[in-house]
Amino acid sequence: MIGEKAMQIIQNNKLDLALLESALKKPWLYEKSTDVFWDDPHISEKMLELHLDPNVNSASKTKATIAAEAGFIIGETGMGAGKAVLDMGCGPGLYAAEFAKTGARVTGMDISARSIEYAKTHAGTQYAHTSFLQMDYLRMAYQAAFDIAVMIFYDFCVLCETEQNALLGRIHAALKPGGFFVFDVVSENRKTAEGTNVSVCGGGFWSDKPYMEICQTYLYAQPRTEGQQYVVIDEDGGVRITRFYNRLFSVEALTRLLEDNGFRAVGIYENLKGDALSQDSETYGVIAARV
Ligand SMILES: C[S@@+](CC[C@H](N)C(=O)[O-])C[C@H]1O[C@@H](n2cnc3c(N)ncnc32)[C@H](O)[C@@H]1O
Repeated sequence: MIGEKAMQIIQNNKLDLALLESALKKPWLYEKSTDVFWDDPHISEKMLELHLDPNVNSASKTKATIAAEAGFIIGETGMGAGKAVLDMGCGPGLYAAEFAKTGARVTGMDISARSIEYAKTHAGTQYAHTSFLQMDYLRMAYQAAFDIAVMIFYDFCVLCETEQNALLGRIHAALKPGGFFVFDVVSENRKTAEGTNVSVCGGGFWSDKPYMEICQTYLYAQPRTEGQQYVVIDEDGGVRITRFYNRLFSVEALTRLLEDNGFRAVGIYENLKGDALSQDSETYGVIAARV
């Protein structure tokens, strides 16, 4: 069965059609998943494989993109020996390792035990001035401890508005005056179509046992957000629903959000490689200074 607390769609040898119908409903914006995702043992193993595939832009960006983005971030923020860097949602530490090469003291934080274990045994053993913590970044409580904080691969967009404001508050407290927060977001130019895809497999991303995956894409108007709902049904009738949301930002909304939380956008680019912003850019790379 998928997930320890999976809902049961088979009750008394019958398919619970009402449960199936409710599982497939459009979720309300920011409705939670029914199971853990990032720290699930099977999923986190599959995620780690994706993170470490140098040619796949999935859990992490490709190796070439990571090198280019890290180079840009290092140059723009003046990262180097004597600086303290916080990487929120560091995954297996691919960016953290690039940052550590500069001599900066790097703290990587991630909710996935498997990713943190990998980061500790790779970047962590290679660079003594790194530390990796399994922790929810929404709960961190640093005070003026870092010169630079980063959050990479559009993770800021998955948070609801309350969480975005709360996290910006925690980052503001964690940074020294004049410190930088570097992150990327999905822009409102992204064209996503609503739709449903159904597939069946003998084992894969969600479980090593057979399952059916129903992937639904939804759009929300206020604030502009795209949502993906994965309803995964196993052979025993276990149902697991995983939901992701991506807030789609305009430059104006992003700038206002930063200003409301004590930051000033000092650079907005097409991406974190520093390419010039175009009118139809589907993402933004942002460097914000703590005011
Ligand atoms: C898309 S991956 C990006 C990883 C890394 N930044 C990179 O680009 O290689 C998102 C990461 O955020 C982590 N994550 C998600 N929610 C988190 C939270 N609340 N606190 C800490 N880490 C979190 C996940 O475990 C995952 O490793």
